[in-house]
Amino acid sequence: MRKTVFSIRTVVAYAGLTLAATLLTFAQQPAQGGKTAAQAYKNIQVLKDIPNTQLIPTMRFISTALGVECEFCHLGNRAEDTPNKNTARKMMTMMMSINNTSFNGRMNVTCYTCHHGSSSPVGAPTPTGQYSQLGAGVFFKPDGGPLAGGRDEVMAEAYKEYMSKDRLAGMPTPDQILAKYVTALGGDQAIRRVNSRLITGTATLSNDVRGAVPPINVPVEIASKAPNQWVMTFRMTNGTTANGFDGNVAWLQAANGVVTETTGANNSPLPPLSRVKRNSDFYEPLNLKSQYSRIALRGAERLRGRDVYVVVGSPDGDVPERLYFDRDSGLLLRKIVAVPTALGDYPIQTDYDDYRDVGGVKVPYLVRTMSISPAEDMTIHVERVQNNPTTLDANKFAKPASRQPAGRNQ
Ligand code: HEC
Ligand code: HEC
Repeated sequence: MRKTVFSIRTVVAYAGLTLAATLLTFAQQPAQGGKTAAQAYKNIQVLKDIPNTQLIPTMRFISTALGVECEFCHLGNRAEDTPNKNTARKMMTMMMSINNTSFNGRMNVTCYTCHHGSSSPVGAPTPTGQYSQLGAGVFFKPDGGPLAGGRDEVMAEAYKEYMSKDRLAGMPTPDQILAKYVTALGGDQAIRRVNSRLITGTATLSNDVRGAVPPINVPVEIASKAPNQWVMTFRMTNGTTANGFDGNVAWLQAANGVVTETTGANNSPLPPLSRVKRNSDFYEPLNLKSQYSRIALRGAERLRGRDVYVVVGSPDGDVPERLYFDRDSGLLLRKIVAVPTALGDYPIQTDYDDYRDVGGVKVPYLVRTMSISPAEDMTIHVERVQNNPTTLDANKFAKPASRQPAGRNQ
């Protein structure tokens, strides 16, 4: 088994009722702060100035965009050059130049724009490969869908025009969809009667980039408390891993006891505090509308055999998010968010299923998070939900002390 040097794990905050994806992207072996890719790796010529923690997410991004595995460009030592690696460097330079000259430096054209999941863009109309399960739709839609559109005025204009067509005639407004969602969960009052929650269950984790190693099942516990605190604990065989948010600082405790902060400042690859706060909102279903500066109905689709409405919400200064609501039940079935990387946005999808009533409020008992790499798949099978548990310690959410000084890079 090839060890993943660096694994980003999507941390799912079981905040509020929706178990919102919190987008805490982190290194399992935390990288030393402040280094650029060129300082941390041996042979970086194009992506020199990106933060070192962004290199691997960027690599995953291009692998997916081309529908290939790492070995397509790397044979053995990743610092060594190969013909495809050299072509990829040329492509990066070309792409950056297109974006600089035609899109004001915004990452509108990405590898995916041309490659669409294939290493040879010519004559390959459909995405293939192990990553295709997420569907090409998650990426940059030519109509200016959320992952690309929110960032560029030209695309945004085209998107607006597309949105204004009669296509949406007869469909409810985003406000109606959000209101139906609250009702479906049990209603405003029932939701507000709960101010903390303890969830226990099993997490199925995959830790291998190629999905070749069978996933492991580990016990998981998620505690959350209004307005936005949570802690998620995995009991791994090599120790306990935990991550949490105390309302001000998001943190990660690795199995070796080292604790790192996972909220970032501007221009850091870590998620900004504003996003963590937003995604940690215990009452997210009630507050969705105020979280977005712009919210639009994108249309209707089929999802897991259900008719869904797709709503796009644009938080101020952050990448737009997509929400899929069941047309009939009103419940949230999917949320897609994106983490920006050096070469394009990195989508993370969370599916909610098996909603059950717990004290008058519906809670999803099956939550699956996927991204473009199988290394990040995580499924939570909820076994027990306690509303307002009396056992929640007030200190539970605070960042624990680090057992050792922060380790070397990788
Ligand atoms: C399409 C080609 C391509 C694919 C696929 C690819 N890489 Fe890369 N990789 C590159 C290029 C090009 C560089 C050098 C970037 C530069 O010079 O700025 C690089 C550099 C690296 C480095 C830095 C090595 C060093 O010390 O200089 C690592 C580590 C790496 N890649 C890991 C991965 C992993 C892991 C994957 C699979 C998830 C992957 N790469 C997939 C093209 C690729
Ligand atoms: C503007 C369109 C476009 C963009 C953007 C683009 N590519 Fe390409 N790429 C192509 C075309 C076209 C080819 C095929 C060239 C040929 O067949 O000679 C190609 C070929 C390649 C190849 C060689 C594949 C092989 O089998 O020989 C690699 C590797 C590659 N691209 C990587 C990338 C990466 C990585 C990115 C993003 C940083 C990227 N490309 C962005 C159009 C693009």
